[in-house]
Amino acid sequence: MKIAVVGAGHVGLVTAVTFAHVGHDVAVTDTDAEKLSMLRAGECPFFEPGLQDLLTTSLESGRVSVADTVGEAVDGVEVAFVCVGTPPRASGEANLIAVEKSAQAIAEGATGSLVVVEKSTVPAGTAGRVGAILAKVAPDIGFGVASNPEFLREGSAVQDSLHPERILVGADSPEAFDVMRRLYAPFTDEGVPLVETDVATAELSKHAVNAFLALKVSFINAVARVAESVGADVRDVADLMGSDPRVGRGMLNAGLGFGGSCFHKDLLAFHHLSAQAGYDFRLLPEIIRLNEESVASVAKRVEDALWNPEGKRVALLGLAFKPGTDDIRFAPALELARLLLAKGAAVVGYDPQAGAAAKAEVAELELAADPYEAAAGASCLVLCTEWEEFAGLDMPRLASVMDERSIVDGRNFLDGEAARSAGFTYSGVGHSK
Ligand code: UGA
Repeated sequence: MKIAVVGAGHVGLVTAVTFAHVGHDVAVTDTDAEKLSMLRAGECPFFEPGLQDLLTTSLESGRVSVADTVGEAVDGVEVAFVCVGTPPRASGEANLIAVEKSAQAIAEGATGSLVVVEKSTVPAGTAGRVGAILAKVAPDIGFGVASNPEFLREGSAVQDSLHPERILVGADSPEAFDVMRRLYAPFTDEGVPLVETDVATAELSKHAVNAFLALKVSFINAVARVAESVGADVRDVADLMGSDPRVGRGMLNAGLGFGGSCFHKDLLAFHHLSAQAGYDFRLLPEIIRLNEESVASVAKRVEDALWNPEGKRVALLGLAFKPGTDDIRFAPALELARLLLAKGAAVVGYDPQAGAAAKAEVAELELAADPYEAAAGASCLVLCTEWEEFAGLDMPRLASVMDERSIVDGRNFLDGEAARSAGFTYSGVGHSK
């Protein structure tokens, strides 16, 4: 099938190369000319494991082409995916101007009947608005509208997209469902379930899933606060909770909390949508408040270790919001850096991928070339992102370069015993082991 993907960010680009990989012909476009040039040169504009290889093969095979405009991309296609950003406004409401402009441009460029698919996370009700624009701009073309939310995670986006747990499609007509079934046949033929709902249910499901995942993270972090006071170990509590299939172990790792472009934005947008619908869903902002508390709690621990933070160095290992990405949006490490800088500490950070992006966001942050350079002269070292390379840290070497031997493990990732043996005061989140 010929398809168009509007927006070449984490969701759009992964969607494009995934569909190319299973045999469709994909035209991808974006409003960012620099991104388009990079893609034409075969370069992936951001780091995502496996994406560069898939991009190279799909450009070489000609299954992915890069279009300058939406009009060019939608020429002759059966499906157009909208994968543009939906950032929060000051009120928390999702800003849908890019979705509106995309719908307008798709309608203007459409050469025949096609299904417009929302892949970006949007509030329930957006499909109705999109459908109205399509009908107004090009009343003679038969458009279908579908919501097909993405469940991929950064850091494992390619694998998640090639091997989804399930595919969710909400559509507004039998014809649109037919098109979506054909599009996803390479996946459903392999046994991946395709769940069909009405459009509003699909839109709402995406918000509900993300809010619930964020709730799990905030819940276990609140349990961690109690565990610290009563001498329990939150890791064992999480394992025990997770062994009940009704709960599930996923998203129950206590630590610095969640970051990334999705959870925070989606919680705000979901809260706003609920209020508009007449329901004050107060749990949603509380999830964000608990998340902020997680960073503040680690910051307090670091301050305790420093005693007087002024002029002392703190080393942050990991700056990305999670391992496997160079994305620093809402990264807890950067929030922690800001809190410590405000107290007068000097903050030096190291990240295998996200250093430059972090520095662009927090100018006062010093960057180091490796963990040991970051630790040199520091009074406290904080593990912020659980990159695999930090599992093998040489504790005696770290101890030899630091000014004071204190480690705060913000992801319960390091070997506490090895740290203590090297002379460190070690503390994790939600336990005292
Ligand atoms: C999340 C969802 O997991 C995806 O299903 C969804 O498609 C995506 O948002 C989206 O809406 O685009 P992502 O933000 O990439 O994906 O990453 P997650 O693996 O969900 O992690 C989110 C944050 O929670 C990270 O900062 C991570 O460190 C933190 N986290 C995760 C914890 O603090 N504890 C955990 O147990 C798990």
